[in-house]
Amino acid sequence: MSPATPRPTTAAAAPAGASPAAPAALGVEGLTVGYAGAPVMADLTLEVPAGQIVALLGANGAGKTTLLRTVSGLLTPRSGRVVLDGEDLSAVSVEDRVRRGLAQVPEGRSVVAELSVEENLHLGALWKIPARRARRDAVEAMYDAFEPLSRRRRSLGHQLSGGERQMLSLARALIAEPRVLLLDEPSLGLAPRVVAQLLDTLRDTARRTGLTVLLAEQNVTSALSVADRGVVLGLGEIVADAPAADIAADPALRHAYLGF
Ligand SMILES: Nc1ncnc2c1ncn2[C@@H]1O[C@H](COP(=O)(O)OP(=O)(O)OP(=O)(O)O)[C@@H](O)[C@H]1O
Ligand SMILES: [Mg+2]
Repeated sequence: MSPATPRPTTAAAAPAGASPAAPAALGVEGLTVGYAGAPVMADLTLEVPAGQIVALLGANGAGKTTLLRTVSGLLTPRSGRVVLDGEDLSAVSVEDRVRRGLAQVPEGRSVVAELSVEENLHLGALWKIPARRARRDAVEAMYDAFEPLSRRRRSLGHQLSGGERQMLSLARALIAEPRVLLLDEPSLGLAPRVVAQLLDTLRDTARRTGLTVLLAEQNVTSALSVADRGVVLGLGEIVADAPAADIAADPALRHAYLGF
């Protein structure tokens, strides 16, 4: 799906003055967060080094979405903090976290159903690349990275297949040149071939731009195949944090926490 000869990256297409996508490290320190009742996780600490893809794994209900929503600022922790490039984000609003380069693609996708693919992409880039011509270049770069979308430019969001919608969600996030991307189950409901394409594009983009990714997934094998590291959540704590290949090769861990 990625082009043989890449076009200019969106960073190169950005107008003068826009900051390039410098990699950022993400940290979670001593995080306790939950809803009413018992916390979902207590005193959780996690590092996502700049430029790495970390797969966040764990059974249904383990707390993956809760953790991502806390990092993006949608949930407020009871204690602990989220740190971006060494800076405490506790007092930083959701919007300002996005401005600092933290983007989230939520579970269930984020496409505007009434707008075309092209309009969705322009909308995703609007605040970051206000100049229309530069934005058009950035949109073209996304069509190169997500080739199936280029054949659906005029299709409305609600006319897309699940896989196309998921590609558009990811493209919409990437076009704003985030430094850190939080992805919640991008494989949900997709055929294995589409999942592989999507994650390959994610990995290519991360390698090219230095994007840092925290990737929550139920699709353990696919996630570990593109990740540098894997973190397994179980019973409110991290039960494994190791190179992706080591987690994939650990049968006891797979049986106990990953269900295969
Ligand atoms: N809005 C909410 N109100 C109350 N409890 C919630 C809420 N959202 C999630 N929970 C609970 O918090 C726990 C963690 O849920 P979370 O959605 O973070 O899990 P997850 O790892 O993302 O699971 P899945 O793989 O099914 O998406 C679960 O026990 C869930 O029931
Ligand atoms: Mg979830």
